[in-house]
Amino acid sequence: MQSIYNIPVPTIWMAVVKQVFGLEAEIEAVRFYESKKNQVSKLRLRTPQGLKEVIAKKYVWGDGDAEFSVLKKAYSLELGVPRPIAHIGGVLFTEAVEGEKLRAPVSVQQAEGLGGWLNRFHKAMTPAPARGTFLRGDCRLVNFLFQAQGQKIYGLDFEQAYFGSPELEVAEFMASLLAVSGTERILQSWPLAAILAFLRGYGGGLDLEGLYECTTKNLHNSLEFCPERVEEIQATLHSWQTSKKEILQELARNWEGEKQS
Ligand SMILES: Nc1ncnc2c1ncn2[C@@H]1O[C@H](COP(=O)(O)OP(=O)(O)O)[C@@H](O)[C@H]1O
Ligand SMILES: [Mg+2]
Repeated sequence: MQSIYNIPVPTIWMAVVKQVFGLEAEIEAVRFYESKKNQVSKLRLRTPQGLKEVIAKKYVWGDGDAEFSVLKKAYSLELGVPRPIAHIGGVLFTEAVEGEKLRAPVSVQQAEGLGGWLNRFHKAMTPAPARGTFLRGDCRLVNFLFQAQGQKIYGLDFEQAYFGSPELEVAEFMASLLAVSGTERILQSWPLAAILAFLRGYGGGLDLEGLYECTTKNLHNSLEFCPERVEEIQATLHSWQTSKKEILQELARNWEGEKQS
């Protein structure tokens, strides 16, 4: 067995792999992902049934049971998530999906697709009656994979799912678009076009003033979490705040136009 970065495979995974995939299963190759929170890797397994690619996520902190149950429900509802396989010994196994992370500039089609994904998730995962909307948590650009062929979108990383108002999560995503943009002219920029498309994809029904304020808060937070991009984020934040009136008008017009067409 080899690790492509020559990092030894944590022995816990070997033991757990045999428990999940059978004693004859062997790890053939490992690729580690960048993760600030957990140990996440892609394992290529040789099993009696053939080669398999799976993702193993070992929690350093966080709740694997919660993520496993969100995945099981979302997968059964065909909401666009990887197939969950098992959660054993603090390791979550999911089927590896092919797809790319979206990078700046996010296109209008991609943003609209992501809005649709999130709205379906909120609607289908929220039980009735509920204490609020079921939110996926950590709703940032990095937690989605996009397959250009077939335009399929997968959501990843559900360990922080919670109940709350949908504006919280929609705003978190909007701020994640703005945080990668580094734009000083928000009104003419791709992030605003992407935000409008994302909201059209989501389909309306949100408090726009609340959405604006919550996005501002999230952008402030990202200053703390992305020290390497402070200047760019500050420029974006400044433009976002000085154009508040125009942005709110654009957001309102965006949904008005939908209703009329
Ligand atoms: N099922 C999967 N298929 C393909 N890649 C995945 C899958 N699950 C996770 N990844 C990759 O691993 C990374 C980290 O996984 P994630 O669940 O987001 O962990 P963390 O909580 O550490 O952010 C993801 O950003 C993605 O690149
Ligand atoms: Mg993640």
